[in-house]
Amino acid sequence: MKAAVYYENGSPDVLKYEDVPDPVCHPKGVIIRVLAVSIEGGDTLNRWRGPLVTKPHIVGYQASGEIVEVGSEVTHLKVGQKVATCDGFGSHAELRPVPARNCWPIPDSLDPRHAAVIPVAFGTAHDCLFEFGRLKAGETVLVQAGASGVGLAAIQLAKRAGATVLATASSDARLEKLKAYGLDHGINYTRDAVPEAVMKLTNNKGVNLVVDSVGGPTLQGSILSLGYRGRVSMVGQAGREPMVVDVGTLMGGNRSLSGVFLGAEIMTDRAHDMIQGLIEDAAKGEIKVVIDREFPLSEAAAAHAYIESRQAVGRVLLIP
Ligand SMILES: NC(=O)c1ccc[n+]([C@@H]2O[C@H](COP(=O)([O-])OP(=O)(O)OC[C@H]3O[C@@H](n4cnc5c(N)ncnc54)[C@H](OP(=O)(O)O)[C@@H]3O)[C@@H](O)[C@H]2O)c1
Repeated sequence: MKAAVYYENGSPDVLKYEDVPDPVCHPKGVIIRVLAVSIEGGDTLNRWRGPLVTKPHIVGYQASGEIVEVGSEVTHLKVGQKVATCDGFGSHAELRPVPARNCWPIPDSLDPRHAAVIPVAFGTAHDCLFEFGRLKAGETVLVQAGASGVGLAAIQLAKRAGATVLATASSDARLEKLKAYGLDHGINYTRDAVPEAVMKLTNNKGVNLVVDSVGGPTLQGSILSLGYRGRVSMVGQAGREPMVVDVGTLMGGNRSLSGVFLGAEIMTDRAHDMIQGLIEDAAKGEIKVVIDREFPLSEAAAAHAYIESRQAVGRVLLIP
């Protein structure tokens, strides 16, 4: 099969389009013919500095596809079925072996390209807002990096839950596009300091919850944007800078900071069912998957470079 592979970590141009051996089906797994790869923020981080579990390494968490082989111990999936899949690596390829547990059937009414995007971005946003963020209707949420995959999902899910939604982005044009998905107030962080802007927009109350997938110095700004008993769901390091926070700024306002890692619970019934529910919601049109651009799999390097240019609003797909 063809795959986008790399032999060393680095910038997007480490990605090469090559022939690699076809995968072998595990008894507890399936093999899919990939229909769409959703390039995750974590994929670009892993390419930059993540472990090369195989050599050459095929990066990538998420892809949708059609099952072409079913492992001998798998009874609930069948050849020909379309599924969204997630695993630690291996999405950037024509064929993908994946544990059966990490497959979510795609309803006929949902485009497999859209389904490819849902498990990690929407599942993570859901856990940040509800499982760990304890969001209630009537509360106010700040979504850092609102134009990101996780950010766009968090904006929609928070709005649907009855929250007022604030979000940050690096330009006014990016913020403008988020209004269609539930953004109430945008903050261009290249122009305005985030905590000050949040206090202005909330009459000095601060927000109840922040979803922070950027980390680095941004995380301290998230804590300073909280109101009394406010919570931060810290979920990523898109900014690629060390996390340095003054934890003393949590105490006075009874504020809390929670780490969120979907991968630690994605195999549980709770997370599996939550993600299947989000796929059903997308099939009914209750949540929208935002696809910015598609590239052929052979142009994976260009697709990663495009993401790193910070122009994308929503997801970039690779199509084998
Ligand atoms: N813990 C978990 O379970 C989990 C799950 C999913 C994702 N994540 C993590 O969450 C982060 C975001 O993932 P994603 O898929 O939402 O990412 P994404 O769609 O690629 O978007 C990342 C966004 O971060 C902003 N950003 C700020 N500083 C940046 C920098 N130095 N370089 C690049 N982008 C920067 C950019 O928006 P602006 O230009 O508007 O600032 C960009 O749109 C990643 O670190 C990922 O690993 C964690």
